Parts: sequence; C-alpha cells; structure tokens
Amino acid sequence: MTNSTNSVATLDKLVALCKRRGFVYQSAEIYGGLNGVYDFGHLGYLLKENIKQAWKQSITTTEPNIIFLDGSILGSADVWKASGHVEHFSDPMVDCLNCKHRYRTDDIDLERACPHCGKKAWTDSRQFNMMFETHLGAAANQSSIAYLRPETAQSIFVNFKNVLSTNRVKVPFGIAQIGKAFRNEITPKQFLFRMREFEQMELEWFCKPETSAHYFERWSQARKDFFAHIGINAEKIHLRPHEKNELAHYSVACNDVEYNFPFGWKELEGIAHRGNYDLSQHSKFSGKDLAVYDEETKQSFLPDVVESSVGVDRLFLTLLFDAYHEDVVDNETRIVLRFSPKVAPIKAAFLPLTKKQIGPTEKIYNDLRSKGYQLQFDESGSIGKRYRRQDEIGTPVCFTYDFESEQDNKVTVRNRDTLVQERIAIDQIEHYLQNLLKN
Ligand code: GAP
Repeated sequence: MTNSTNSVATLDKLVALCKRRGFVYQSAEIYGGLNGVYDFGHLGYLLKENIKQAWKQSITTTEPNIIFLDGSILGSADVWKASGHVEHFSDPMVDCLNCKHRYRTDDIDLERACPHCGKKAWTDSRQFNMMFETHLGAAANQSSIAYLRPETAQSIFVNFKNVLSTNRVKVPFGIAQIGKAFRNEITPKQFLFRMREFEQMELEWFCKPETSAHYFERWSQARKDFFAHIGINAEKIHLRPHEKNELAHYSVACNDVEYNFPFGWKELEGIAHRGNYDLSQHSKFSGKDLAVYDEETKQSFLPDVVESSVGVDRLFLTLLFDAYHEDVVDNETRIVLRFSPKVAPIKAAFLPLTKKQIGPTEKIYNDLRSKGYQLQFDESGSIGKRYRRQDEIGTPVCFTYDFESEQDNKVTVRNRDTLVQERIAIDQIEHYLQNLLKN
C-alpha cells in the first residue's frame, strides 16, 4: 500500500540527501567550507550534464540557426565597462555596526534589530559591486585589471561579428553558451539558489527590431514550456512580467519564469528584451561597426536581442525540490526522487538477486553499458535496501535477474513510482529502456 506525501521537501533534507548520495558537496569542506561555492559529485555531474543536454535540445528544436560558443571566463575590463557592469552591477548592502554582519538591504527589515546579534545599529545602505576583480600578469595596476565574468552573455555580444562571418548565418539567428559565471553575492543562500560560482545557460537571439516583440513572446513561451518538458510540475511554474522599476539597466522588457519554492515564488530563468543596448555599447566603446547589412532594405542596422538565461545549478535545485517525495509503503517511509527519465542521472539499475546471479546480471549490464546507457550495477545488501538506494537517487527502473530467469530468459522490472513489478524478456530490455527515455 503506497501513500504519497508531497511537498515535504525542505532545504535541510535536500542538502543532506545531496551529500549522502554524492550529488553535491560543500567546497573545501574539510577546511570549514567556502561559503556559496559547491563541488558536484558523480550523480550531480551526471544530472547537470542531462540538464545541459535537454536545454541544448530544446533551444535547437525551437528555432533553426543556433550557433554555440564557449567564451573565456576571464574578461577584459573594457568589455565590462562597455556592458555597464563596472558601473551598475551592484546590490545595496548594510552592515550591523555591533556584530559586523553584512546583509543585502533588500533581504532585511531595517526597522528591526539585526537577526544575528539582536541589536539595532545599521550603517547607511550603500552599493556593493558584485564582480570578482583580478589582475593579469605580475604587475597589479589599473591597466592589468580583468574580471571573472558575472554572466556568459557578454562574450556572445563581443563575438557577434566573428560568429556572423564564420558561420554563414543571417539575422535572425541565435548564439548559445553554457559556462561558469561568478558573482560576489553579499549573502549567498538557499544552497544552490544563490551561489558565488555557478553555471549559466544563455541564448542571445539576434533579430530585426520590428520582429523583437514577436520573438520575446515566442521565447518566453518556449522557455516556460521547457520546464514541464523535463518533468517539472507545470502548476508550480509561471511567467511573471517585470514591472518597469524592476528592469535591469539593459532591458526593454523582461519575463521571469518563476518556480514555487518552499521559500516562495522565485526566479528560475529570465527572458529579456535587451533592444540593441549591448551591440550599440560595444560598437561605441570598441569603435568597431557591429551593424549588419539588410539585403532587402539596402540599409545597415543593429539587431535587437532577446535573451534567455537560466542557471544550471538553480534548475538542479528546482528539479530536486520538484522530484522529492516521501512515500509511506507498508508503514515505512521511503524517500524517492521522481525525476523524469530524461534527466535522471542513472537510467536503470541491475540487481542480481543472489551471488549465483551476479555473472548473468553483469553480462546484461555490461552489454547495455557499452552502448552508452548510464546504468548502475549493485550487488550488495538486501534487495529492499538496494531498491531504496535507487529510489533516493531517482533511478526510474530496476532490473532483477532471479531464480526463474535462467529458465524463462526474463527479468523482473520494478517501476520506481508505481512500484509495479513485471517480467520482460531479456532481449527486450534495451527496447524497454529506449521507450522509457523517449516518453
Ligand atoms: N545575462 C542575464 C543574466 O545574467 P540574471 O537574472 O542575473 O540575468 C540569469 O541571471 C539566471 O542565472 C537566473 O535566472 C538564475 O537562474 C541564474 N543565477 C543568477 N545569479 C545566480 C546565483 N548567484 N546563483 C545561482 N544562479 C544564479
């Protein structure tokens, strides 16, 4: 008898599960940890890879002419001056004069006492630039300043002409990038939600200005639909248009895809109509003409840009919250991650029932593993314990080779969500897996 109890996921439970099962570790944990920085273990790495794969597939099937770029992480100060980040990329910050704790002004009620020490002694609110500054070479002076990129987008704008001239594409087209970004967040929090080092998946869609409103709507809808496609509960996702006073310095309009986290509706992805802000800034600051020639009107113009930008890690956290369930089965609680098979880090596990069945089970497992399926083989512990381990990491199905298998050439396949067990022919396992991954 199964009773599903949803909405029980808390940050503490997820952090513990991620550590227990090797998804995510605090960076430099044995030295006390680095705040807002995390390392990803085997399963975390696989989950991230699946997220990125799903994103690439989604954007390239939405529109043609998407070109990929892998830009550098270190960025010239000139780029970040032109983009407006040196001047504008800051958060308001206050300090408690008593205990010296530092907060983002918008995270704290200044009418009340400091949550850390209980005294009310605030400094004035001031702006704190979140870019990590470094120096290139041995001499540290004004001309050696470089920045770790706080977003991947700028290398796309800076390479706009390179991509255009080397890929035989015409406007409209997109440049997409997945890569690390760094922000010196004043208060990193909520585990993978607000980090200091994270990964972004960004698409800049270049189009004629008269079509940008259309593409803004088109990409907003497509990006919202993506999350249901990878198995996230559509009722917990909505699009929220930004109010004028919330818009970033570069935006004409912006829609956030928000998810209903236990700590409220929060941004998962932003879709921004950036106008021609970036190309015109980089034209102005670099002195290079970034306009394109329109064969129809015989005129040059600067394309508009529609951007979609989502954090890999924030989406990772969202998938965990969404998939986490505690079921009561025969009066025992089991933790299960109901990942869609598309993103599940392990697609299937192979479990020999007894020692005698290790050899034949391994043979089936190795045959499929060598074809590229992400699988696990587990021979240790009771079968019940092995099922629980796979439930906790979100493996959709487990195959068990048992006493009857030698006679009927069949295995038992057990479904993670329904717990239904059925017997299928060994030569049908691959077909079964293919169907599972397709649907
Ligand atoms: N190029 C536009 C841009 O970077 P953003 O809203 O600052 O826009 C886009 O960031 C996405 O990157 C967010 O929706 C979120 O998913 C992710 N993100 C931003 N800051 C983050 C942080 N400190 N930790 C984890 N993810 C973050």
